[in-house]
Amino acid sequence: SLEKITWEYKGFTLFRDVTKETLDVLPDFQIRDDDIVVASFPKTGTNWLLEMVTKILRAAGKTDSSADDLIGPGPIEVKIPTATQPGYVTLADMPSPRLVVTHLPIELAPKGISKPQNKVKILVPMRNPKDTAVSLYHFGNKIFKLMGLKDDIPWEGFAQKFTNGKVPYGPFEDHVLGWWKMRDDPHFLFLKYEDMKKDLLSAVKTIVAFLEVDLDESTIKGIAEASTFNNMKVDMDNSKVAERRAIARKGIIGDWKNMFTPEQSEAFDAWYEEKFSGTGITFDFE
Ligand code: PPS
Repeated sequence: SLEKITWEYKGFTLFRDVTKETLDVLPDFQIRDDDIVVASFPKTGTNWLLEMVTKILRAAGKTDSSADDLIGPGPIEVKIPTATQPGYVTLADMPSPRLVVTHLPIELAPKGISKPQNKVKILVPMRNPKDTAVSLYHFGNKIFKLMGLKDDIPWEGFAQKFTNGKVPYGPFEDHVLGWWKMRDDPHFLFLKYEDMKKDLLSAVKTIVAFLEVDLDESTIKGIAEASTFNNMKVDMDNSKVAERRAIARKGIIGDWKNMFTPEQSEAFDAWYEEKFSGTGITFDFE
């Protein structure tokens, strides 16, 4: 069950492989001026953004390293099952420009991200919580197997755990609203999964402008085309890193309809209304 692989810390539920020791040192983890950060709730579009940022930096001649190098060791706070040390240790020795990923809530993130200075740039993807829950559920079961755990997480009850904040990195609302407080800070760019899905070209243009690089129209079109789900899936499914091979699943809006019972959906809607009305965040559930 989920309880086997999670623990509670400062009001959040964390994955077993995020240790107290790591959380103690991370606030002082050195963020560099030219770091590009993706700060996300899991399953909201992290790897999609990483891929686009990588392609943009490469097209702009800002990096000459290969994709897997740039994408790095996974989230800074996690020791992924196939790694020997947590992400932040590996990342400390990597050359700039670095792509830094964290799924931590803003309260637990490095100060260089939660109180950004100078030129660091932080992208925050957001996705409707029903699809996020479904994606997390499927991913969780794949990771369970990578961790050598035999039992499956049942969907029955998972939606309820999600709204109770008892899934890894939950409560979702505290996580999302914590980062959302930074929406007027120019170091931050918030991007919705559903918007990217509907108009990827505009999303790429927005990211290019945010990163302050100069690319011509046909290059931007090429990046958008290469970043569609089907085109990205080919690379991800062939990755050397097992965790990366677990990412590309369906890549659609509305897959929640295949999982939620009417009762689960109603309970979710009530929770969503209570937590998000008046916050300025609206999600498209399609
Ligand atoms: S993780 O593990 O938290 O880093 O996962 P994350 O990358 O944030 O989210 C994974 C989901 O994003 C989907 N995905 C995409 N959707 C559309 N287009 C593209 N290019 C794309 N790339 C990844 C991926 O399939 C996961 O969603 P689900 O619903 O499970 O398919």
